[in-house]
Amino acid sequence: MTAVEQSLPANNLQPKTIYLKDYQVPGYLIKTTDLRFEIYEGETIVSAMLHLYRNPAAQAPATQLTLHGADLELVSIALDGKILSADDYEFGEENITIFNTPAEFKLLTITKIKPEANTSLEGLYRSRTMYCTQCEAEGFRKITYYLDRPDVMSEFTTTVVADKKYPVLLSNGNLIDQGEADNDRHFATWHDPFKKPAYLFALVAGDLAHIEDSFTTCTGREVALKIFVEPKDLDKCEHAMTSLKNSMRWDEQVYGREYDLNIFMIVAVDDFNMGAMENKGLNIFNTSCVLAKPETTTDAGFQRVEGVVAHEYFHNWSGNRVTCRDWFQLSLKEGFTVYRDSEFSADLGSRTVKRVEDVSLLRTLQFAEDAGPMAHPIRPESYIEISNFYTMTIYEKGAEIIRMLATLLGKENFRKGTDLYFERHDGQAVTTEDFVAALADASGRDLSQFKRWYSQAGTPRLQVTDHYDENTQEYSLTIKQSCPPTPECQTKLPFHIPIAVGLLGSAGDLPLYLKDAEPDFETGDNTHQVLELTAAEQTFVFQRVQEKPVPSLLRGFSAPVKLQYGYSRADLIVLMSRDSDGFNRWEASQQLGLQAIYFAMSIYQRGENLAALQLDAELIAAYRSVLQDESLDKAMVAYMLSLPTEAYISELAEVVDVEAIHHSRSAIRKILARELRTEFMGIYTAYDHTQAYAATADAIAARSLKNVALGYLMLLGEDELIRACEQQYRTANNMTDVMAALTQLVNTDAPLAHTLAESALADFYQRWQDESLVVNQWLMVQASCALPNTLAKVKSLQQHPAYDGKNPNKIRALIASFCNGNAINFHADAGAGYAFLADQIIVLNTQNPQIASRLLTPLTKWKKYSPERQGLMKAELERIMAEPALSKDVFEVVSKSLA
Ligand code: TRP
Ligand code: ZN
Repeated sequence: MTAVEQSLPANNLQPKTIYLKDYQVPGYLIKTTDLRFEIYEGETIVSAMLHLYRNPAAQAPATQLTLHGADLELVSIALDGKILSADDYEFGEENITIFNTPAEFKLLTITKIKPEANTSLEGLYRSRTMYCTQCEAEGFRKITYYLDRPDVMSEFTTTVVADKKYPVLLSNGNLIDQGEADNDRHFATWHDPFKKPAYLFALVAGDLAHIEDSFTTCTGREVALKIFVEPKDLDKCEHAMTSLKNSMRWDEQVYGREYDLNIFMIVAVDDFNMGAMENKGLNIFNTSCVLAKPETTTDAGFQRVEGVVAHEYFHNWSGNRVTCRDWFQLSLKEGFTVYRDSEFSADLGSRTVKRVEDVSLLRTLQFAEDAGPMAHPIRPESYIEISNFYTMTIYEKGAEIIRMLATLLGKENFRKGTDLYFERHDGQAVTTEDFVAALADASGRDLSQFKRWYSQAGTPRLQVTDHYDENTQEYSLTIKQSCPPTPECQTKLPFHIPIAVGLLGSAGDLPLYLKDAEPDFETGDNTHQVLELTAAEQTFVFQRVQEKPVPSLLRGFSAPVKLQYGYSRADLIVLMSRDSDGFNRWEASQQLGLQAIYFAMSIYQRGENLAALQLDAELIAAYRSVLQDESLDKAMVAYMLSLPTEAYISELAEVVDVEAIHHSRSAIRKILARELRTEFMGIYTAYDHTQAYAATADAIAARSLKNVALGYLMLLGEDELIRACEQQYRTANNMTDVMAALTQLVNTDAPLAHTLAESALADFYQRWQDESLVVNQWLMVQASCALPNTLAKVKSLQQHPAYDGKNPNKIRALIASFCNGNAINFHADAGAGYAFLADQIIVLNTQNPQIASRLLTPLTKWKKYSPERQGLMKAELERIMAEPALSKDVFEVVSKSLA
């Protein structure tokens, strides 16, 4: 290094940007991949025999081969049996190039890696007592030299050799051999008959216990199902197994997809960057997404296990059999698979509830992402580090795009489209264009304008106005669309948007006669219509409308947009109490809540006292009637009674006034608690706390409504209610009720609650200290506490024996809960929270770049805060930016946030 280079900050050597437009087919392909892993304490030796051949589809015949490789120690390399010398190849940054390569050859490399020292949790690493892998997206290059790109698909055979203290040795596919090895060691050989890209490779070695079951496929084949865990967790696998069998049946029935190997395995690991991974025949799961039992797992936890098991299983077709050509196509598998798992959960539980949950997530986190510096289309055009693109946009918005396609095509044509897609592209690595083409071909629909959803980022805005003409009995809806600029694109072309609507008359839904259109045959009901907005502005006219209706717009949230229509409060009360679309009933409740919160915020911002605030009798009555509506699902009542979250209100705001939002929302909640005390008490006392736990939709709904009631009652600060809450904590037979009570005790600002919270927290830890996932909930409840001094508490918990700064679940439970889910404290104390977060990121940048980068999210939103906060947040981003040796992950997010 020259003196000049030395004086430059390391950051000046900027990581390079990868562009979709630069995509080229690989010069070589790999027919077979034979791997041998010799696992020793401290190091693992990997031998890889690759059968390479020139890609007939390449522009010109390749005469050299560049393989990816990172953090590898090369022991030897041989081409067709001949050891290569140093001038036959050259090392680059994260790669090796071999010169003068023939048309077809076998390459044998021997490399050494150190899984025990791998804290990034990418490649082969150690988690507690076991060895495991995570290869998506580009982790395989940390295992051996390879063409680590998804359009290179190969047939893998893998031998794992290890000490007998690791009795379980697993890899993808079918077990074809096992036996004794030298030095009292043993081995297992696995063969995967399906060609796959390296990102789907997996290996596990450990002392694991398992439960076993079997599934008979629709063509009568027997599939062995095994879930492997550390022995202590063997009692928490049942729910995942049931979810797996339900998923297998559902994919046969709804998509005609049968499982293809004789065995399907899941392994639970405690140190994992994400939720789970769909490796062929050997899914690897974060323990948090597979383990569940009533005593340790909340209802939300049970539902997450079901959803993630389904998601990973569904990838076997949408991801593995048909995979991505390159990482710009990530939403091809993720958006589609999220849509599939979401429909699965809707079919097994309550459809409306699932929709409310998905939309809430989308509208808070994804809309915020789409309005910030990291905004990107669901098929991005460029990236620096692909790990940064496993986002809400790729996953959740991606799923909404598929949902819109399903809406536009209708059930039957959508299924024809997916059948064609799977049939046409089985065994291939394809693009989102290929997916849309299959749907267009099968349905005969022109989807060319629709494809703009793939290339334009940002959340479209719809402005709706209406007009009713009593004389002609015509009712018209005029819809204007626009989309704010995002980093990749300043001016947007109009989107093709399905807008599901109904019209409410005084006696219920009105029949719809849309001028110049066919009635909606699909549903066989003429009170529901999907309007297709394609122009910047369009008017839809309904005829024979006998009275001025209240429009029910964007039913079921039929498109990921922000819709504006000037609803009066009376309109919203009508929609909330009797729209036939359950989603829009909830949506109306949220709009009403927002109006009340905005009113309170204006009082707070004028410096007036919120204690004097009153709510109109009509509004209270509307909420009361929801509580008394027997026709409603209890989970829906619970959601309708819950005010919009601070995160949602913040996303909607131009400038986030953290204190005004927090205190105004609390003030409205207190009024509701006072006014509806009798009803909440009725719900709470009617609930039978002694009933046996069940994770069914009905039981979950009843618990959630009862605990919402408890939350309101606790706002009254009455000693008797606080004692009832503490009693629920002590006597509940399931973690949902335990956590609900503990959360309320911890967040209630009353002397008795403080005392009882202290002892409950101590008791909880005492009881659950050996259950890592339960300890995470204990950390989370404390980090999320909205009362003062929480940052100091979080810092002291980092020193607690329960905390492990290398474990992503612990980091999420303590650090991310505080920074993402506790706005009032994160933004307090003149930037103390920001500095705290930046300190964590600086440590994690070298230790685990993926987690460091994900943790950055709250700081990237700096432009949405007051000038003072902007300065403080930006200063922390700049402090991170000045760090030497920034990872690509952190560099990309920080530099884009500061741009
Ligand atoms: N494909 C995985 C899923 O969605 C995502 C995933 C698991 C992942 N582990 C990862 C992505 C690590 C990046 C890095 O199901
Ligand atoms: Zn996925």
